[in-house]
Formats: sequence, structure tokens, C-alpha cells
Amino acid sequence: MGYASLAAAVSNAGGLGMVTALTQPTPERLRQEIKKTRQLTSKPFGVNLTLLPALVPPDYDAYVDVVLDEKVKIVETAGRNPDMYIRKLKAAGVIVIHKCVSIRHALTAERLGVDFVSVDGFECAGHPGEEDVPNFVLLAQATRKLKVPFLASGGVGTGRQLAAALALGAEGVSMGTRFMATVEAPIHPRIKEAIVEANETSTTLVMRSLRNTERVYKNKVALEVQHIEKERPGDIGAIRHLVKGENYRKSFQETGDTESSVWSAGMVMGLIDQVLPCKDLIEGMVKEAEDIIKNRLNALVVPSSKL
Ligand SMILES: Cc1cc2nc3c(=O)[nH]c(=O)nc-3n(C[C@H](O)[C@H](O)[C@H](O)COP(=O)(O)O)c2cc1C
Repeated sequence: MGYASLAAAVSNAGGLGMVTALTQPTPERLRQEIKKTRQLTSKPFGVNLTLLPALVPPDYDAYVDVVLDEKVKIVETAGRNPDMYIRKLKAAGVIVIHKCVSIRHALTAERLGVDFVSVDGFECAGHPGEEDVPNFVLLAQATRKLKVPFLASGGVGTGRQLAAALALGAEGVSMGTRFMATVEAPIHPRIKEAIVEANETSTTLVMRSLRNTERVYKNKVALEVQHIEKERPGDIGAIRHLVKGENYRKSFQETGDTESSVWSAGMVMGLIDQVLPCKDLIEGMVKEAEDIIKNRLNALVVPSSKL
């Protein structure tokens, strides 16, 4: 999903688009994707570098070298043990946003000198971690504990939530699932329709038994994975054929079949009722947030003379 087309559309619409490094099979392909993004937008964009457990880990160093070589100014790191990559990126003057799901990890990232933390609540699509703290508490805790500025990630899809995130101390929001249901998202229209039709109970968690939990669209395959995990907890070999990335790439890019693969999606699906162009989505959210702040929140402030 984090390809040049969507990243550029988000940046052109006033957001900060992200190219996902590991959706590119090789570091050289990432270089091409960065160049392609530059052709599609003159606005800033970033690259996401996700460090997840893998039997044969990708050559992260080579991906980071491409990012530095291409003079990408903003990188979002996510996943396990990002320390040495954060250090390397910071030493090169890159603005680093570290995405994490616990205040403990956010504090570590702060110590390592990241510029922003992206606080990813339990509602989020993808990997919510194992501590299951939703954003209403996580963000309030971030405000108390962090000195570094932070973004609210997970479960966000409306302007009202943007206003709430700002009230909770965030500098802005980060969205994954909401951008899947945009005109520019390079995914099959049937997947977008499924997101619009889904509600807030349409996700489930797989790979809990591997402590690599992933929030995904609740479909036949996800339930099968859960069943196998119950019988054979922690056995990646028993579920690999069902969770492998190739399956969902096929659903997203070729077939549009919502049921035949395990694919990341968040609870925010319940708040998505239209496929929109990125510009309309972002501008609509900002307008809604402004309206709530000016008209609802401001009206709640009682002048001290009336107290
Ligand atoms: C289809 C899909 C793929 C994702 N892939 C990645 C990824 O490769 N790396 C990453 O850090 N986060 C990934 N995410 C998670 C998002 O970056 C973000 O943390 C999450 O979507 C926020 O929750 P939301 O979907 O409720 O907005 C993905 C999300 C979706 C929906």
C-alpha cells in the first residue's frame, strides 16, 4: 500500500505520505520508488522502515543506505530493536519518527533522540503489540510521560477524532486503514468496498501465540489461522502458508478477493463510509476538526466572570 502513487497523493493533499521500504523487494527497487515519488510530488514525503521478526531478515542496512543516499529527509521506524538504525539516521540528520505501541518503548526512542513518536493504540491495523492499550489511555499517558512531540496513530479516520487527538496532546494524526479507502490507494476496488461495508467489529487478531500479534480483517482465513494457533500455539510453520505476504498482495493487486488472504485492517473501518480522494479526505477532516474546536469546544469555555 505504501507505494509512490499513494504516498505522493497524500503529500499532494497536504499530508505526509509514506513509502514503505519493505514493500519493495530489494533496496534498489526502493531507490526507484523514491525517485518515482519525487516525480509525482514536490512536497515532503517519508519512508517507513519496519523491523519485524523474519526467518531470513531483509538487508535493513542496505535499505537504510538507499534512504540516506537518496537524501530522504523523514523516516518512520517501526518494530523491534530499531536502535542502531535510529542512531544511524539521526547521525545523518534525518528527521526520525518512531512508531511504537507502549510508553516504555516511546521513552527509549526519546532517549535515542527521535524527533517524533507515533503512538499506535490497540485499535490499529497491523501490529498492535502485546499490551493491548487503546488510544484513549495511551495518548493521555503519552502526554504525561513524553517530552518529545507525538502523533496519534490507530483508529483515526474523522475530523472529530483529529480534534480529540489534539486535545489529548498529540501534534497530529497518522492513518493507515483510512487511506486504504481512497481513490488513489493502489488496491483492488473490492477491498475498498469491503472496508466501507465493514464495521468496528470486523477485525480480529492473529499470531497472538507467536507474540507477533496482527490486527486483520475478520474473514475465513483469519479464523482458520486462529483455529490452527489454538491447536498448535507458536508454530509458525503451521500457519505460514496462510499468513504469507504473497497472499494479500494477490488479493490487493490482482483478485480483490477479500476472503482468501490475511490482510491488515483496523477498527476504524466502522467509521469509513465512503471511498474519497485523498484531498477531500484530508481537507474534510481538517475542516471538521476546526469546526469542533471553534464551535463545540470553544462554546464550552465558561467565562470566569460567570463561574
Ligand atoms: C494494509 C496495511 C499495511 C500496513 N503495513 C505496515 C508496515 O509495513 N509497516 C508499519 O509500520 N505499519 C504498517 N501498517 C500500519 C500503519 O502504518 C499504521 O500504524 C496503522 O494502520 C494505524 O492504524 P489505523 O489503520 O487504524 O489507522 C499497515 C497498515 C495497513 C492497513
